[in-house]
Amino acid sequence: MSIAPRPPISELIPESAPFTPEQRTWLNGFFAGALSLDGGITPLSPTESAALMAGAPAAKTDDDDDGEAPWHDQTLPIAERMKLAEGRPLRRRMMAAMAQQDCGQCGYNCQDYSDALFAKTEARLNLCVPGGKETARTLKTLHQELEHSPSTPAAKSPEPTPGPTPTPADATAARAAARGRSRDNPTQAKFLSRTRLNKQGSAKETWHIEFDLKGSGIDYTVGDAFGVVPTNDPVLADAVIAALGAPADFPIGGRTLRDVLIDGVSLGTAPDMLFQLFSYITGGDRRQKAKALAAGEDPDGDAATLDVLAAIHKFAGIRPDPEAFIEALDPLQPRLYSIASSPKVDASRIALTVDTVRYKINSRTRLGVASTFLADRINPGDTIKVYVQKAHAFGLPADPNVPVIMIGPGTGVAPFRAFLHERMATKAPGRNWLFFGHQRSNYDFFYEDELTGMKAQRVLTRLTLAWSRDSDQKIYVQDRMREVGRDLWAWLAEGAHVYVCGDAKHMAKDVERALIDVVATYGVRSVNDAVAFVADLKKNGRYQQDVY
Ligand SMILES: Cc1cc2nc3c(=O)[nH]c(=O)nc-3n(C[C@H](O)[C@H](O)[C@H](O)COP(=O)(O)OP(=O)(O)OC[C@H]3O[C@@H](n4cnc5c(N)ncnc54)[C@H](O)[C@@H]3O)c2cc1C
Ligand SMILES: NC(=O)c1ccc[n+]([C@@H]2O[C@H](COP(=O)([O-])OP(=O)(O)OC[C@H]3O[C@@H](n4cnc5c(N)ncnc54)[C@H](OP(=O)(O)O)[C@@H]3O)[C@@H](O)[C@H]2O)c1
Repeated sequence: MSIAPRPPISELIPESAPFTPEQRTWLNGFFAGALSLDGGITPLSPTESAALMAGAPAAKTDDDDDGEAPWHDQTLPIAERMKLAEGRPLRRRMMAAMAQQDCGQCGYNCQDYSDALFAKTEARLNLCVPGGKETARTLKTLHQELEHSPSTPAAKSPEPTPGPTPTPADATAARAAARGRSRDNPTQAKFLSRTRLNKQGSAKETWHIEFDLKGSGIDYTVGDAFGVVPTNDPVLADAVIAALGAPADFPIGGRTLRDVLIDGVSLGTAPDMLFQLFSYITGGDRRQKAKALAAGEDPDGDAATLDVLAAIHKFAGIRPDPEAFIEALDPLQPRLYSIASSPKVDASRIALTVDTVRYKINSRTRLGVASTFLADRINPGDTIKVYVQKAHAFGLPADPNVPVIMIGPGTGVAPFRAFLHERMATKAPGRNWLFFGHQRSNYDFFYEDELTGMKAQRVLTRLTLAWSRDSDQKIYVQDRMREVGRDLWAWLAEGAHVYVCGDAKHMAKDVERALIDVVATYGVRSVNDAVAFVADLKKNGRYQQDVY
């Protein structure tokens, strides 16, 4: 049955009506639901899905771009994202090359990073960690286009800027100048402690980690992330030195090869440049293989397993000049962790919830550099380099009365522990509902005592748990959301803000889909309207994500 077109949900109640924004959103949702007569649930089309992930469109600019970003969906493969960006200005295609997580690891969000590259206020093309080699390769190609374009911003003669309007260059400089406020200018904090959050017998290794911030100059807000500048495992550095057959004390820029391998370069995924270097110093079949690997091909089907050490082993006997070898590697990048504490409880301490990355490939255990740095290689009393990455639209509502729904399986619980501590410390009257899930209830119930205690004190109004490996049936947070959909809708209708934290690739999208189903079913509206409702929540800052 078709119905007459009607104004979008957000316009049903005019701005001038005597309601607060929360009331207006609720009423708009209510009337849109009541008006919806075609309420069946159908799968989302790719366009609907992309529109939903895109959230608020970017502002229009003078290159006549429409500001829409249909590629802004972290679950789309890069080829699809680039296709969606075909025919768009270069800066927009650069954005489509990013991993679309707005995770902040590069120090920007996806759009700001691409705009900074385009404006040439940022020269580093390899900052998008989740995008990996694919993003770096695509950006390299796009950057060549930028270099050859006659009318790039840098090529234009600079216009005098009237008044004090800050430029992107000012913003970059300001970020870099403030100590402890950016990856470019970290400060020092003292490592205090680590406590295992899983019980003996868990398949996971997750740590509650605390730092002392005294003297660091750092302040933070719940929702922010903490940047950790790690060092590589010295055992791995020594294995690389042995495989190269180079002296550990070979001088490189006033330091030793070993020191640079420990704290200067990434020993993770072998970069294209390394294979390029190998192709120059080897011959025959090996040269062809190295060339193919440098071009992103996979001649032996093992490319994904090649970290720096495995790459040297693959070309056994290769002896690059140590300096050229170091030049060919990527710099070691900091890692971000959602902050799991509130400064309103103790401004001089900060807590993290860190899952340790260890996995085996061909009998060698590979170590996640930062997570094992935190889990194994630092000791209480050590000072390490850190910074705070301010949240990009992820934080508690300004109004302490607003109810919040927090969905955070696994380490995704971290910022919600911070939110709950903050709301407890500030005696915020708003209701709090946490969805937490993990593998097994007996082993992986992080912060169990704290959360059940907060529930007893009614700080945590509701705690909904999903255990994926307690039985044969996988139960995920989104399954629980559907089970309690009626109540979830009631909270939403009362103006609740929704927060999601954790895995970006699968969980975040699945949770969003569940929310759409809940809105469609209990808000009695079509899927299209439910999609629009959730997109509206995003635009109004009522659906916020911190995903990685
Ligand atoms: C905003 C933000 C907040 C974050 N918050 C948290 C948090 O609260 N807690 C948390 O634990 N993490 C969090 N992360 C993730 C964190 O930043 C790191 O990415 C994570 O700790 C891994 O880093 P690493 O240096 O230990 O591993 P890396 O050295 O970066 O290695 C990780 C890489 O190893 C590979 N890998 C991992 N497992 C396997 C496997 N089984 N098989 C094959 N390859 C594999 C993958 O390529 C993966 O990308 C957050 C990230 C962001 C962007
Ligand atoms: N690359 C990936 O595919 C992937 C996936 C998840 C996490 N990670 C990364 O692993 C690190 C640590 O993760 P973590 O300790 O926070 O735990 P996690 O691995 O995210 O697991 C937390 C819980 O989420 C469940 N889960 C798995 N897929 C889900 C989905 N699609 N929707 C909802 N829940 C789902 C897990 O169940 P089961 O384990 O039983 O499936 C587990 O119960 C993070 O860096 C994260 O990004 C990567």
